[in-house]
Amino acid sequence: MVEAKRRRTFAIISHPDAGKTTLTEKFLLYGGALGAEAGSVKAREGRRSATSDWMEMEQQRGISITSTVLQFEYRDCVFNLLDTPGHRDFSEDTYRVLAAADAAIMVLDAAKGIEPQTLKLFEVCREREIPFLTFINKWDRPGKGALELLDELEETLIVEPTPVTWPVGIAGEFKGVIDQATGEYTAFERTSHGSTMAPETKMDAATAAQAEPEYWQTAQDESELLKELGRTVEPETFRSGASTPVFFGSALTNFGVRHLLDGVVDLVPPPGPADMRDGTTRPLDAPFCGLVFKVQAGMDKAHRDRIAFVRVVSGVFERGVTAIAERTQKQFSTKYAQTMFGQDRTTADTAFPGDVLGLVNAGDLRVGDAVYVDKPASFPPLPEFAPEHFRRARVKDTGKFKQFRKGVQQLDEEGAIQVLRDDVGGDAAPVLAAVGPMQFEVATHRLENEFGAPVELTNTSFTIARKTDAESAERLNAMQGVSVMQRNESYLALFESKFWMERVIADHPDLTLERMVAEGGLG
Ligand code: G4P
Repeated sequence: MVEAKRRRTFAIISHPDAGKTTLTEKFLLYGGALGAEAGSVKAREGRRSATSDWMEMEQQRGISITSTVLQFEYRDCVFNLLDTPGHRDFSEDTYRVLAAADAAIMVLDAAKGIEPQTLKLFEVCREREIPFLTFINKWDRPGKGALELLDELEETLIVEPTPVTWPVGIAGEFKGVIDQATGEYTAFERTSHGSTMAPETKMDAATAAQAEPEYWQTAQDESELLKELGRTVEPETFRSGASTPVFFGSALTNFGVRHLLDGVVDLVPPPGPADMRDGTTRPLDAPFCGLVFKVQAGMDKAHRDRIAFVRVVSGVFERGVTAIAERTQKQFSTKYAQTMFGQDRTTADTAFPGDVLGLVNAGDLRVGDAVYVDKPASFPPLPEFAPEHFRRARVKDTGKFKQFRKGVQQLDEEGAIQVLRDDVGGDAAPVLAAVGPMQFEVATHRLENEFGAPVELTNTSFTIARKTDAESAERLNAMQGVSVMQRNESYLALFESKFWMERVIADHPDLTLERMVAEGGLG
């Protein structure tokens, strides 16, 4: 219980280029995981190529398709930073990682505010009731006004922003921050390339006013106003996702990074009892159980291994125990359990709630599965995410049809891609559906290299999907601009445009057309 209480398990979410990679790197710097001096650029290149080398595609582009977990200590806590894929390679993995997190940090670019991808990720947080902190980044560069950004949060996300720090100096003239709880002012200094921690000087109001004649008074007035308006951190509404503690900073220059890390320690809830499928909760001190939130195949070319990423939910994991996979009821050895730090895998001997394990070649674990010892566990199903990209797949060489079928089925089971079928294509030409187009590249690459079945993808005209049922399916299939496909036992109605879909809904309100999580963001 003591170890669980020290854990802070969270993910960083952002639109590409808002600064997630930079911030992650600075967390490691402050967490001592990069040594005292992080050659900023070097660390960044390292990280970009770090995650894995399982796919040449990934190396060529210098991006990371896979998610890993970074574990480091800060103050008296152990941080598990679940790294969501960091670039335009947006996929269902990004969403699923949030299923394993206790909180998220939403990084915004001060000049851009809330961007489309931020919205989608935010919606997943809301759906799962994951509390989130907001870090307004790049305050060292000209951007929007601080109050304007708070308004944007409130209006776009319908969430109450409660500043933890307030900036002194407009965006582009960043001097320091006021701690809203104590009133203390911290002035920052830049270091060369932001490669070492930013030196901080604490000042009282009179000294601050002298030091920053141009900016102090305005910052002080705004800070007081926000307090009078009751915009102070409320642990309860934060935990339910109704309010978000806001930090201002610059990941590049390290300004405000320490305040944010302190916020993670003080605000992010440690692991707690977990909701189970049967409606009960499993206490932290129950026997070991964990949630599989990601399965990754082929990370190591030479071994073709398959790693299941498991978040420890209850109990203590001891390497070597025989665990049971809930879905198949198969026993498997945990001799090869690993913890991950970027590319480096180290053997995990013990892990506590909140920690993440990589189980190598352990049964055929799938995303959403529970693994346990002694006391059976089963988790509520993960939400289904709305695919937005649809391509029809055909095997290039019909002689490889068997391999193609096997590969497609496996990719679907892993959750790498959604596989939809209709009468037109049948098994020979299923439609692959994805949240992000990068998933197609991963799928075609794997079908060719892992299963020996090169495929050809053709575009379809569909852009949006809703869940439906057998009864509505028949009626929808008779309409134009709609096509109903089956994914295992469920039905998806695919539409060519959002407008057309809205029209169908308006004309036939009795049809079942359920929205899935993160459909087109909130806008
Ligand atoms: P991402 O992972 O969210 O996609 O963003 P990333 O950290 O890669 O940052 C995107 C760009 O924004 C990078 O510039 C990075 O240096 C810059 N950046 C991040 N945080 C800050 C900040 O606090 N202030 C300023 N001014 N810039 C910031 P780049 O030119 O694309 O890359 P690089 O040449 O610097 O590596």
